[in-house]
Amino acid sequence: MHHLHREKLFSLFDDDQNGVVFIQGAETMYRYKTDYEFPFRQESNFWYLTGVNEADCALVLDLKKEEYHLFVPERDAQYAVWHGFVKTKEQYQEEYQPDHLHYQNDILHILNELSPETVYCLNDEQAEYIEDLNRGFNVETEALVDALTYCRVIKTDWELEQMREACRVNDLAYEAVMKNFKPGMYEYEAKAIFTKVQMENGLLQDAYNGIFGTGNNASVLHYVENNSQSKDGDLFLMDAGFECNGYAADYTRTFPVNGTFTETQAGIYQAVLDAQNKVIDAIKPGVKMEDLHMMAARAMMEGLKKLDVVRGDIDEIMEKDIFALFFPHGLGHFLGLDTHDVGGYPKGVDRIDRPGIKFLRARRELLPGMVITIEPGIYFVPAVLEPALDNAEQNKYLNPDKVRSLIGFGGVRIEDNIVVTEDGHENLTSVVKEIKDIEALMAD
Ligand code: GLY
Ligand code: MN
Ligand code: MN
Repeated sequence: MHHLHREKLFSLFDDDQNGVVFIQGAETMYRYKTDYEFPFRQESNFWYLTGVNEADCALVLDLKKEEYHLFVPERDAQYAVWHGFVKTKEQYQEEYQPDHLHYQNDILHILNELSPETVYCLNDEQAEYIEDLNRGFNVETEALVDALTYCRVIKTDWELEQMREACRVNDLAYEAVMKNFKPGMYEYEAKAIFTKVQMENGLLQDAYNGIFGTGNNASVLHYVENNSQSKDGDLFLMDAGFECNGYAADYTRTFPVNGTFTETQAGIYQAVLDAQNKVIDAIKPGVKMEDLHMMAARAMMEGLKKLDVVRGDIDEIMEKDIFALFFPHGLGHFLGLDTHDVGGYPKGVDRIDRPGIKFLRARRELLPGMVITIEPGIYFVPAVLEPALDNAEQNKYLNPDKVRSLIGFGGVRIEDNIVVTEDGHENLTSVVKEIKDIEALMAD
């Protein structure tokens, strides 16, 4: 399938120009200076164009002839002793089907033969490598990144199939955790159940550091310690996903560790869920991410007003950025080979410098084939709310007693993965999220 990705990239460059693309694939990474090897993960653009999941490879794409040169490492017998099998050139050729196969140390020779007017690179480091090979090469680092971003933003059917599979397994893993979690269990026990289901289904690579946070830990946006013990009465926030052939799933669910929401938990949870449902219903081509973000923020403020956590006119609450005190991150982001995938900000579009929306990772009109996350949340972060309670401009919109009583509550986030389609959207996430359905699942 990766040849379709190369064709998509070729179509973006002028056929007459004598240019080449150069990309160095990922190397094996080690923990500091030890021989502890991190699991190998190919660089996403290299993977997108080649499907080669091996260290120390490189590619050259001849833009004029539309030919693919793959460079592989020449391993010696010692390598076989420590790492196993050494592939022959024929085996590499058979497996990856490049138009031309070479060893890594032939890069200069091949580039000299192709004698390109421009070598398009991904970044300064790889451009310097090319310049160091031959000072005569003219390198460029913007056009390739733009072209690959353009290609990766709209998923092909094959890419969507990988994402559906990542989501199918993520559904199973979430439901296993929710069914088996009990008060007193540690956060890492949830991670263990989750990981076991992923691996049993053939998914071996997590897409990002999972967040398994009980109680107040749920209000820490990038909580990764995952080592606290849950208590009866806690809410538990779980934000995790694995990759299928490089394509990520990225969900969040929040559930009561004892299987039953308290009235307060149910109120806050429902405010987030109503916002998420409203936004998802609105997804279709032409809608802008920043408008969805503000729609979610407003819906959550309406929910918090009903609960008497915030007070006053909703328009003013929005204008004065009070929503940012409770919802300090973006509504969602593009999803694909990277969890925070490329393409959220097209050229010339900048972040909105306003509290509560400046962390939004995507600001553009949605198009069919884009995959996004929708992940509203309400958090009670002491470091944000305590100063707000002392700030006369902000505290007039807060019910101080209610807000104080909720410090320590933690937070609620609900995150689904959505494909934009011609006539609306497809939700790839099917883990239960209505209160009654979570309670029924956990009571099983
Ligand atoms: N887990 C990262 C995110 O939801 O964006
Ligand atoms: Mn997430
Ligand atoms: Mn996300």
